[in-house]
Amino acid sequence: MPAVYLDNAATSFPKPPRVYERIRGFLEEYGACPGRGSHEMARQAEAVIEATRRVVAELFGASDPRRIVFALNATDALNMAIKGVLQPGDHVVTTVMEHNSVNRPLNALERDGLIRVIRVPTSREGLVDPQDVRRAVTDRTRLVVMLHASNVTGTLQPIAAIGRIVREAGRLLLVDAAQTAGAYPIDVEPAGIDLLAFPGHKALMGPPGTGGLYVGPRAAVRPWREGGTGVMSEAPLQPEELPLRLEAGSPNTLGIALLGEAVRFILQFGVEWIRAREMALTDQLLVSLQADGRFLLYGPAVLSRRVAVVSLNIPGVAPDEIGEMLSQTFHVAVRTGLHCAPGAHRAIGTFPTGTVRLSPGYFTAEAEIAQALDALRHVAGRVRRPSTPAAAGRRPVSAAARR
Ligand SMILES: Cc1ncc(COP(=O)(O)O)c(C=O)c1O
Repeated sequence: MPAVYLDNAATSFPKPPRVYERIRGFLEEYGACPGRGSHEMARQAEAVIEATRRVVAELFGASDPRRIVFALNATDALNMAIKGVLQPGDHVVTTVMEHNSVNRPLNALERDGLIRVIRVPTSREGLVDPQDVRRAVTDRTRLVVMLHASNVTGTLQPIAAIGRIVREAGRLLLVDAAQTAGAYPIDVEPAGIDLLAFPGHKALMGPPGTGGLYVGPRAAVRPWREGGTGVMSEAPLQPEELPLRLEAGSPNTLGIALLGEAVRFILQFGVEWIRAREMALTDQLLVSLQADGRFLLYGPAVLSRRVAVVSLNIPGVAPDEIGEMLSQTFHVAVRTGLHCAPGAHRAIGTFPTGTVRLSPGYFTAEAEIAQALDALRHVAGRVRRPSTPAAAGRRPVSAAARR
């Protein structure tokens, strides 16, 4: 185990104590396949799944829990939405900041001649201008798909403004909430979000192998996985109604039960509380790194326009080397490279080597941030630096300031 874990943007660690405590009890008490009425243990397992659906719906302000569909992770949910909504000839508007879980399904559909993809640019901070989205939408656009916050720069996108534009144009908005679900308040209905893909294992603090898709009333999603539902077995095709339409086969009952525990933990404290904690840690990082002067920082200068993701570089050193030193010598776990989002690095000028990404979580201690900062200062001190960032072949983007 690392001494300091700063890779919560990949998956959160640790989870709330109640998540660990529930594992054994769940398997002992409700270890049946949710059976929709076949026997008592199956009914109880089903009830646990439905209870998770209700708390997830509450967290995202979805009035009907049946509109929450469980998936393996955010990637699975994004594929379900993209492949279930698009039709041959459609145009899709997206951004250059996207993760490959959006890029690759779109690129594959485009390569097969089925759709056309239009990518809107961003500022050097990774921010999308809603007016660029407005200009990119045409009468052939069916879907606008974009992330809520960047996993590279931490930039929060103006989703509500984009939601209004997409709604006015009568198109659908799919939001990749991989970096915001559980970490930033999301209210799907007022924000005009038709489809929200979320991981269960990141800021929702659930176990690996969990995630889901909110499917709003305007979105019709074709199933891309068909099979048993435990009820309506006489129907030759997948039932029309949600969530059965998009949930076939035996579910990840244990994972969903644990996700329910994690979401109840979040609801107990409130997303705003969790965000305040994570942003205080982010501020601690940014203030020290910026004051030091040896680090290039990326993303918005204003703390309120970002999530707890800090990308940096040390001029003249490859991010992978920094990550290796942090891990091997200082036992600090960070993520390096392109973070599955090559377009984001092109936008901020860090392609192809990428950045070093530090992502604190709710359970990160201030002392751990201090330890990581010490380690980074040691690493920067070991490097024979060129006199200017330009001499290192890199351009500083926007230095992150306090507020
Ligand atoms: C912005 C973004 N989208 C999608 C994903 C994919 O999430 P998952 O690992 O749950 O499939 C990630 C994961 O890091 C991400 O950061």
